[in-house]
Amino acid sequence: MQAILDLVRDVPDFPRPGIMFKDITPLLADAAAFGGCIDALCEPWREQGVGAVCGIESRGFIFGAAMARALGAGFVPLRKAGKLPPPVIGVDYGLEYGLDRLEIGTHALAPGEKVVVVDDVLATGGTLEAGRRLVERLGAEVVGASVVIELAGLNGRARWSGDLPLHALIGY
Ligand code: PRP
Ligand code: MG
Repeated sequence: MQAILDLVRDVPDFPRPGIMFKDITPLLADAAAFGGCIDALCEPWREQGVGAVCGIESRGFIFGAAMARALGAGFVPLRKAGKLPPPVIGVDYGLEYGLDRLEIGTHALAPGEKVVVVDDVLATGGTLEAGRRLVERLGAEVVGASVVIELAGLNGRARWSGDLPLHALIGY
């Protein structure tokens, strides 16, 4: 994991003053590190009958789509408001900096289908929690979540649901 850690760049005061942005683009550009990262993200979910990986817009798409391919699962995008064609359902949630809304296509998941929710970063946990609520509202089963980076100081893990596994590759 150290090789992955070394390829995440800290950018202070982006996109707002006081925010320490984690730039994952050097990691994505490194073939070995990106491949290793996807393997590690998939590790807890192998042999679990996962039918779909739900990636959260926008950076969750990058990791989620590669994971879906590696797990032999489908990929379902959880998108910001107004991006998906109807019919959709949505949930509003609070962010580290502002308010946002996440939506899913109403027919994207089958009832009881096993789903992993994926994002790049866990900060306050609002985004991942919104993803879990969306999937559950369609009657699918969230088996857990994966993130590349957990900003542990913001205690987002406490917002994630009870016993459901939350797998983070690296923590700060
Ligand atoms: C960032 C990050 C996570 C979210 C984590 O996304 O990619 O999705 O914040 O924050 P939280 O745990 O406090 O909810 P952002 O909303 O900035 O959008 P982007 O992925 O489209 O850049
Ligand atoms: Mg995001």
